[in-house]
Amino acid sequence: MSSLPYKYLMPTRVECGKGIAEKTGELIRDLGASRVLIVTDKGVRAANLLGVIERSLQSAGLPYEIFDEVEPNPSAQTIRKGTQALKQNESDAVLAVGGGSSIDTAKGVALMAKNPGDILEYEGVGKIEVPPLPIIAIPTTAGTGSEVTNSTVVTNKETSFKTAVISPYLFPTLAILDPALTLNLPQPITAATGMDALTHAIESYTSKASSPISQAFAIHAIKMIGENLIPSYFVGTDIEQRENMLVASMMAGVAFAQSRLGNVHAISHTFGGVFNVPHGIANAALLPFVMKFNLPACPERFRDIAVALGKDVAGLSPMQAAEKAIEAVLEMNQAMQIPNNIKDLGVSLELLPKLVEDSMRSGNVLVNPRLTRAADIQMIIEKAYAGSLQDL
Ligand SMILES: [Fe+2]
Repeated sequence: MSSLPYKYLMPTRVECGKGIAEKTGELIRDLGASRVLIVTDKGVRAANLLGVIERSLQSAGLPYEIFDEVEPNPSAQTIRKGTQALKQNESDAVLAVGGGSSIDTAKGVALMAKNPGDILEYEGVGKIEVPPLPIIAIPTTAGTGSEVTNSTVVTNKETSFKTAVISPYLFPTLAILDPALTLNLPQPITAATGMDALTHAIESYTSKASSPISQAFAIHAIKMIGENLIPSYFVGTDIEQRENMLVASMMAGVAFAQSRLGNVHAISHTFGGVFNVPHGIANAALLPFVMKFNLPACPERFRDIAVALGKDVAGLSPMQAAEKAIEAVLEMNQAMQIPNNIKDLGVSLELLPKLVEDSMRSGNVLVNPRLTRAADIQMIIEKAYAGSLQDL
């Protein structure tokens, strides 16, 4: 597979380590901020993850307000409300504390604080003209990667379409990775977010727009997730495993911010808009089907993935070795009780033409390693619904 011309830009400063969240206040003060809007959700608040961060802001002398109305698959409406809250408080920095939904909402709010019109008018690549307010991201799950990416995903509730806004201005200024904040994640969230990170890394590694730089991040992220996700799921409280997952998720984010993703995300985003399926679970269930579809386009890359996930491929043909990558993903799904089809997730085929049409609107289809037409997307969805990997 030939490589497209590429560039590499990752301007986000990353601070990582157990207990580093205690330094949030001084780190944000050093950016020159004078008033902070914390963007989060009620679950993060209830889990008491804000305590350490609030204390840190207080001791740095930084006043703050909390906007905790972020919902899963955040809507344009929530970004409008958050922007209103920010303007009322006259905050000059936006601090996301939470999963991908909180970070994506914070990006939207920081953007709309400085730019005219409505968030939905910025769909696509490079439409932002004025730099947003500084964005600081503290992920409380190991999955999104949004703390180091140049995009935000917003759901238009009127059309159920998930809109992606992509711009170099959306790279957060600072990402603070503290594994202590992820120690008490419930098993289903560890599974969903960890498989989201794995999907990012696999789609990035095989993307047509990948480069040697993004591939280095992606393949190491795959290896770290292969070694740490299942133990994190079953143990939960091992800080080293949790830190490795947080770092792997961030590295997958660095990779896909450069390379974009592929058909899994193109399709799963349409589910999120229509069925409210957790993003990571939709990805995990779809991933083996898209991998099978993509195998003939780049078997050697899937062979690398199989090896990174710990499979022995000695003596196997390229296609047999590549198949081992699918086997590894199916085993991970099974260990974490993720269904091997999308029917069990509540996806219905009634809206199939809309799912296909919305999937094809995603820029991720264009960088998927195997050339993909609408009929291919339809077939992948139908096979994933039936739970059959045959004839893909
Ligand atoms: Fe994702």
